[in-house]
Amino acid sequence: MISIKSDREIELMKEAGRLVGETHKYLKQFIKEGITTIELDRLAEDFIRKNGGIPTEKGYEGYPASICASVNDEVVHGIPGKRKLKNGDIITIDMVISYKGYQADSAWTYAVGEISKEKKYLMEHTEKALYEGLKQVKPGNRLGDVSHAIQEYAESHNLSVVRELSGHGIGTEMHEDPDIPNYGKKGTGILLKKGMTLAIEPMLNLGKRDIAILNDDWTIVTLDGSDSAHYEHTVVVTSDGCEIITKRLD
Ligand code: MF3
Ligand code: CO
Repeated sequence: MISIKSDREIELMKEAGRLVGETHKYLKQFIKEGITTIELDRLAEDFIRKNGGIPTEKGYEGYPASICASVNDEVVHGIPGKRKLKNGDIITIDMVISYKGYQADSAWTYAVGEISKEKKYLMEHTEKALYEGLKQVKPGNRLGDVSHAIQEYAESHNLSVVRELSGHGIGTEMHEDPDIPNYGKKGTGILLKKGMTLAIEPMLNLGKRDIAILNDDWTIVTLDGSDSAHYEHTVVVTSDGCEIITKRLD
């Protein structure tokens, strides 16, 4: 079932979204060569809790940390640990915060120091693929219009779309209906309606789209070892488009 949020619920989601944006901005200054991903996790958890939020990834289906920190060929769900960031790495920080019972979700890929041209290309066009998808989020459009726009943009830029993972509805739960694949056909799927709250999140690879899961049962990597990027915003469908509620102020 796809829920339509009331104005009051949307206000609470916006508060959660604001804290997500602020936490991304706060973490960005620490993303430098030498820091470990567990240090980033601690910084994030402290910041979120000090600001009255709950990092909802922690404990979600047994996930052990407050953020996902996925480096280079890691697509999603990288578990923070002793790994030190190196010059030339890219790292995706994905976080979900609950505030007064409502959730917001956003992932962003960051460069560590000087990165290769290929990695810059991947980051730039994965972010743009997200915005191409968001342009299609408006009442009267169908979900397939969003999925198709992301796929079309990605593939016309020679990036491959990870198919096993999708965006999703969000609200009191981190993952609500509908499932939002990053590939699909125009004019198909459910009709978008004002008051829906959605997390749109293309995960694109420089190489092939196939993925594998590591022995930790969480970390998803590209099968061919190519780099992967991931950009995600939570949005509210408005009367004539959508409003991003996880905007970053940097
Ligand atoms: N934040 C992820 C998403 O975008 C979900 C992470 S699940 C966790 O949907 F268990 F790893 F936290
Ligand atoms: Co998400």
